[in-house]
Parts: sequence; structure tokens; C-alpha cells
Amino acid sequence: AAPAPVSATGASATAPDGVRAQQGEWLTTAGGTPLAQTDHSLRAGRRGPVLLQDHHLREKTMHFDHERIPERVVHARGAAAHGTFRSYGAADGLTSAAFLAEGVETPVFVRFSTVLGSRGSADTVRDTRGFATKFYTSEGVFDLVGNNIPVFFIQDAIKFADVIHAGKPHPDREIPQAQSAHDTFWDFVSLHTEAQHHAIWNMSDRGIPRSYRTMEGFGVHTFRLVADDGSTRLVKFHWKPRAGVHSLVWEEAQLLAGLDPDFHRRDLADAIESGAFPSWQLGVQVMPDTPDQTFEGIDLLDPTKLVPEELAPVHLLGEMTLERNPTNYFAETEQVAFHVGHLVRGIDVTDDPLMAGRMFSYLDTQLTRLGGPNFEQIPINRPRCPVNDLLRDGHHQDAVHTGVAPYHPNSLDGGNPFPTPAERAFVETPAPVAAGEKVRGPHTSVDDHFSQTRMFWLSLTPVERRHVVDAYAFELGKCYEQVVKERQLACLARVDEELCRAVAVRLGLGRPDGEVAADVAPSPSLSQ
Ligand code: HEM
Repeated sequence: AAPAPVSATGASATAPDGVRAQQGEWLTTAGGTPLAQTDHSLRAGRRGPVLLQDHHLREKTMHFDHERIPERVVHARGAAAHGTFRSYGAADGLTSAAFLAEGVETPVFVRFSTVLGSRGSADTVRDTRGFATKFYTSEGVFDLVGNNIPVFFIQDAIKFADVIHAGKPHPDREIPQAQSAHDTFWDFVSLHTEAQHHAIWNMSDRGIPRSYRTMEGFGVHTFRLVADDGSTRLVKFHWKPRAGVHSLVWEEAQLLAGLDPDFHRRDLADAIESGAFPSWQLGVQVMPDTPDQTFEGIDLLDPTKLVPEELAPVHLLGEMTLERNPTNYFAETEQVAFHVGHLVRGIDVTDDPLMAGRMFSYLDTQLTRLGGPNFEQIPINRPRCPVNDLLRDGHHQDAVHTGVAPYHPNSLDGGNPFPTPAERAFVETPAPVAAGEKVRGPHTSVDDHFSQTRMFWLSLTPVERRHVVDAYAFELGKCYEQVVKERQLACLARVDEELCRAVAVRLGLGRPDGEVAADVAPSPSLSQ
């Protein structure tokens, strides 16, 4: 029989929080030498020069000088909380994932974020929000790294650097900090029209949530669930907030950005501290796993498209409650490392090319951000199950590995680690792949960038439409380049004539077809 797996992180593999912090009550150096004081440097005479031999001054200053790590290249500003996910047991026959079996409780850590602003930017800006959940399951960590908007700007990961370059502040002036109110953003989305669907969600009330507690969350990509009997389904993940979906109005968002730039993180922390624990239900839209991976004409490998809930209702699987604030922002919220490759048995990815790029990107960026390859050993990232990998050494290695044979197979460490029996392991689904020539080209419903954008617009109430018009007018109104505004208006004309006309009027511009807009009154549905 195989010996019990050895923990790669030693005895503290299951420790949830920090180690080696603030032991004892006396002030010491990092080396543990007790100190009588830390208020004055060592000097040659009370008013003389500071001495080079002041090792305490040197250590304290050196450490301070290196306190900052790079902020995330996207989603830099965030707030997080600990909680528990309780499974309803409704996933029977859908997935073998252990944490979705009936009655199972799984610890979670959730980080909410804005995408574009830097760490010090305001919470209430118009932007997409990240909604990333780390499930510490008994069979390994599962990260559901989602957003509060169900679609994404691009279909192919090769465009990610481009869309983020366009969305981040202008390279010359570094403005605006965290809004879509600038030329590069609208230049990109009007030239690269598959981004129009995500952009209209941003311009809607979804772009300015009232609270993290009142946001939906979406896995965006299509995932593949694998049941015990090997059968598969294609699914889209949803988080449904128990508190309902609520947004700010733009004037509130603007005021709050000045009055309380920490509005969302304060709201989350205060709610948890007062016992008003936020909660969400997790659900999936379930679609058959057909060879062409489409559903009702929708390409399920295209992350710029959603599946309307009228066509595939959300099947609820469990409930998450956030009940504990982080103890230390840096240790937990800043050092947490989400990764879409953190998958567990029963949940697999599909061939969505955006997902393929994400598989590389998260580890890559964390290598830099967290200073080396051992960031899985940071307490907030540690699995809460045995770890027995073949990874060794490297910067910030915390584990003291035993044995001599970190390779497989071996005969010197008694064969340890042993391959896990397939029925207990994560095994990639043997799904067919489309054959054809190697080609660098569009893979999917590339010509259809407007039908779901229009569907979203038509689904809105008159008040919601007015907010969308206001948002386009505000954001485009901040652009300097006339050509960019006009090109975006031409895109809006393809979404809806009325939308285009209303925004053109507000911008004081002629319509893209050359007609002068100033004499076009907003339609009744927009002026209510
Ligand atoms: C964070 C890359 C698409 C959701 C990040 C980070 C990178 C990244 C490099 C910073 C991670 C870190 O420093 O730890 C990419 C790439 C994408 C992509 C290359 C597409 C090719 C998406 C999509 C979603 C998403 C489609 C939503 C479904 C998030 C979230 C975070 C994040 C929520 C913040 C995680 C946290 O709170 O720490 N992404 N991303 N990303 N991404 Fe993506």
C-alpha cells in the first residue's frame, strides 16, 4: 500500500493563516535578538554622524525599502473575505467534484476587484469587477476566477495585452486612472467590435455596483463538468447574490469616489464585522456536450457571448457565505494567487482560446508578482489537503523536503509519490478536437458582434436605457479625438438607431450617416 502522502509544506500545510509572526512580547531583531529600543540610530556623540555599524538601523531600513511588491498588472485594487461554501448536493449526475456532494462544507477566500485602476484608485469607478473565489476543497484548490459581467472583451488571448493597453491610462499622461473615459479605450472597442458587447454592459448600471454584496458573478467561459460515470456537460457558472443585484446611480458613484474612495471595501468589511454576512448561491447553466460545442446557435467557445437564462436556466448547486475579514491585507488579499488552472476532479475547461491564454498568464505574472515559483506555499494559497508534488527548491522555499528521489518513478524513496488511482485523480476529459490545418485566424462567430449587444440593450427598462445613454455620453465626451467618437457612434448605430441618435445628440455630433443630430429629439422611451 502507498504510504500516506507527505506534505510539501511540512507540519503547517493545513495552517490557514500566518506563521512566524509576532511571537513573544519583547521587541527583537529579525534574528530574534532582544532590543532595548528602536527609536534612535547609533551615533558618534549625540549630535555626531550615524555609524555604519548600526546593524539594527540597516536591517530596519533594508526591510522597509522592500515592503512593496508589484501590484497586479490588472485587478490591482481589491478587497477580500473568508467564508464557507455549503453544497446542496444538487450536482449528482453532473460532476464528481467532491466539494459539490451533498452537505459538504468547503472553506473559501473571495477577492473582489476593479480591473483597470491602480491599487490606490477609487472603488466606485465605472469598470468591470473581478469576483475570484478560491475553494480549499478536500481534493485540491479550485479557483473560479470570474467577473461581474458575463461576457469578455475579446475572443482570443492574444488580444489581452492589447485590450488592457487600451483600457489602462494613456501612456503619455497616465490619465484617466480608472475609467473608460478615454480615447484609447474607445479607439480599441470601436475598431475591435467584438468588444462592444462587454462595453455596453460596462455602460449599464452593472458597471457601477452598489456593493460587492449585490453583484452577480460569472465564470464567463464554458466549462466541462464530468460526472462519476464519465458523462460530460458544458456549463456556465453563476453567482447569485442573496441581497439581490443593486447598482449606484452615476452621481452617487462620482460623489463617493471623492467622499469615500474606499466605499466598497469599507462596505464589505463593515457588513461582515457587524454580522450581516454576504452570501451568494452558486449555479450552473447546463448545456449538452455536443461535438460542435454550440447551444441554440450560440458558440459556447466564444466568451463574448452569453447564453440567455430563458434558454438554459441556472441550476443551483450551493451557497457561499462570507463571515470573516482578513487579518492582514498584505498576507491575504495581496498575496492570494488565483489561477484558472486550479481545477479539481469533475471540472474541466473547454477549448475556448481565451481560457488557453489565461492558463499561462496567471502563473507567469505571479512568478514576478510574488517573487519566485513557491507562491503556492504562502499561507493564503496553501491547499487544505495533502500536497505531495515533485517541485523542489527555488526562491522562498518554505518546505524542508525529505528523501532523495524527487522524480517518478523511483525506487529510492520507496516509490513515493505514487500516481493517484484514476477514479480519485484529476484526469483531462478525452474530448475530440477539430482537425484541420494549423492556422492563425478567427476561430468562431467572429462576424456577429452586435446581435447580443442589441439583445442586451433591448432587455433594458427605459430608466436603464437612459443610464446607458448618459454613460456613453459622459465617457465619450471625455475623448479628445473626434474620429474615435464618430467611429463609436457608428458602432452604436449597429446596436440600435435610437441609442446612437440619443448619444449623438448628447455629444452634439452629427449622426454617422451625416445627418445633423442637434435637431433629433431623444425618443419618448428615453425621456421618461
Ligand atoms: C487577474 C490575465 C481574462 C478575471 C488577472 C491577472 C492577470 C490576468 C495577469 C493578475 C493576476 C495576479 O497578479 O495574480 C488575464 C488574461 C486574460 C484574462 C491573459 C485573457 C486572455 C480574464 C477573464 C476574467 C478574468 C475573462 C473573468 C472571467 C480575473 C480576475 C482577476 C484577474 C477576477 C483578479 C484575481 C484576484 O483577485 O487576484 N488576469 N485575464 N480575467 N483576472 Fe484575468
